[in-house]
Amino acid sequence: METPLLAGKKGKSFLTLIDWEPHEIEALLQSALKLKSLRNKGEHGQPLKGKSLAMLFEKPSTRTRVSFEVGMKELGGFTVLLRNDEMQLGRGESIEDTAGVLSRFVDAILIRTHEHARIERLADAAAIPVINGLSDQAHPCQALADLLTILEKKGSLKGVKLTYVGDGNNVLHSLIQASALTGIDLHVATPPGYEPDPAVWKYSEQIAEKTGSSLSFHYDPAVSVQEADVVYTDVWASMGQEEEKEERNQTFASYQVNASLMEKAKPDAIFMHCLPAYRGLEVTAEVLEGPQSVVFDQAENRLHAQKALLVAILADG
Ligand code: CP
Ligand code: NVA
Repeated sequence: METPLLAGKKGKSFLTLIDWEPHEIEALLQSALKLKSLRNKGEHGQPLKGKSLAMLFEKPSTRTRVSFEVGMKELGGFTVLLRNDEMQLGRGESIEDTAGVLSRFVDAILIRTHEHARIERLADAAAIPVINGLSDQAHPCQALADLLTILEKKGSLKGVKLTYVGDGNNVLHSLIQASALTGIDLHVATPPGYEPDPAVWKYSEQIAEKTGSSLSFHYDPAVSVQEADVVYTDVWASMGQEEEKEERNQTFASYQVNASLMEKAKPDAIFMHCLPAYRGLEVTAEVLEGPQSVVFDQAENRLHAQKALLVAILADG
């Protein structure tokens, strides 16, 4: 089997999308398409034979955990699942010492945690690449799979109108960066007080100027979604915000993606959600389960996109 490689990326971490150049993101997507088509033919190959990935989860996960576990196995490698409450980390061992020790045992570390700075500290202290499996600030693996899904469904990324309606959270931050890097025309609508991080927006605007992408913000979802090719939402209360749930449900009520909002988008618009979804809150069951929804294709693409990433940073060229 011919293995798609991304020259020069071996050993590189993946903490946010903007650590990677636009042409590198494009190469990852092409590699993901190739790996997906090989998988569909039953040809996995063994480009990561004997390689190991430690997966450290300080928050719950279904998709990220399973897709990385299956992805490593399909590529010939294996994973070691670590939960912080079962580790010395949970009893006060430092993240730096954990990084140093894991670097002697495995080839890469995936981490899902709260503070983004914790991932940066882990990466600084590790001698091996670190992958961000979600922080409060960013979810780059999700955005990579989202780009792959839009590319497949819409045939290109440049000029595609993507509207995100909801909370200015980690998923949105990575979508902003993903859009800026690839020429997507991104429109965002959040309630006042829940806007995305201005630093993420500002830096992405500078990237967008070079790639021809455009980023625009409106508080009114009906304005934002006009003529959209893709309508995207995420939960109103992310992991760690459980106590704010009641208040957020009220504040975000008019930001629900429902049939009447979808009608304002293009007739062939697709609906995306990183999942898990809460029917009747950020999206109605009718939209989530309707013909425009691509959420399970999107979830599947986590596997293909991350396999491309793993090959890029771990395969021996
Ligand atoms: N979308 C996503 O990251 O899902 P999990 O929380 O199940 O990993
Ligand atoms: N914004 C959500 C994404 C879950 C995949 C959260 O952080 O909980």
